[in-house]
Amino acid sequence: MPSPKNIVILISGSGSNMAAIVQAAQQQDWQRESGARVAAVISNRPGAAGLQLAQSLGVATQVLDHRGFETREDFDAALMQEIDRHQPALVVLAGFMRILTPGLVHHYAGRMVNIHPSLLPAFTGLNTHQRAIDAGCVEAGCTVHQVTAELDHGPILAQAAVPVLPGDTADTLAARVLVQEHRLYPQAVCDWLKGQP
Ligand code: GRF
Repeated sequence: MPSPKNIVILISGSGSNMAAIVQAAQQQDWQRESGARVAAVISNRPGAAGLQLAQSLGVATQVLDHRGFETREDFDAALMQEIDRHQPALVVLAGFMRILTPGLVHHYAGRMVNIHPSLLPAFTGLNTHQRAIDAGCVEAGCTVHQVTAELDHGPILAQAAVPVLPGDTADTLAARVLVQEHRLYPQAVCDWLKGQP
């Protein structure tokens, strides 16, 4: 029996992308298909709603509160220790609202992915939906990419586009994009895992 391809998901908030991935893994039986399983969900915020959601889906959760650490490097070192206990094949950032240190990015090079709510390389950073509206974009969307040292850069693995409609607010556009995120992210993770030995 080959060793399982453990997935560790990092969250900070509602965890809807995390839940979409966990549910896809369960419903599509990734364990049987590619030996993959979501081993743990880790949040840097104790109050993240995604923690309860993960527990309700039967996934082990851990909290590592960044406020207990003096420096970003100290927190990331502790985070790496927690993640590595699961010997992950893939680390999935799903609304993990932290700037990562170069050391952490390097440690997971080639096995860490993120979803960003824009059609990268447009609109890296925050407030992507309002910025897309303000710029007059007719399309917006989301991107799954590998994580590299530069924020919201890195090789693109998958994208989905949605129209920007007349009268859209950041909230209505975000909701339309989020539907696509929940479809795109599990698919991209599944494809990535199938490509691994
Ligand atoms: C998503 O829009 C994702 O693209 C961005 O943060 C949001 C997280 O939402 N990185 P959720 O926590 O997955 O519900």
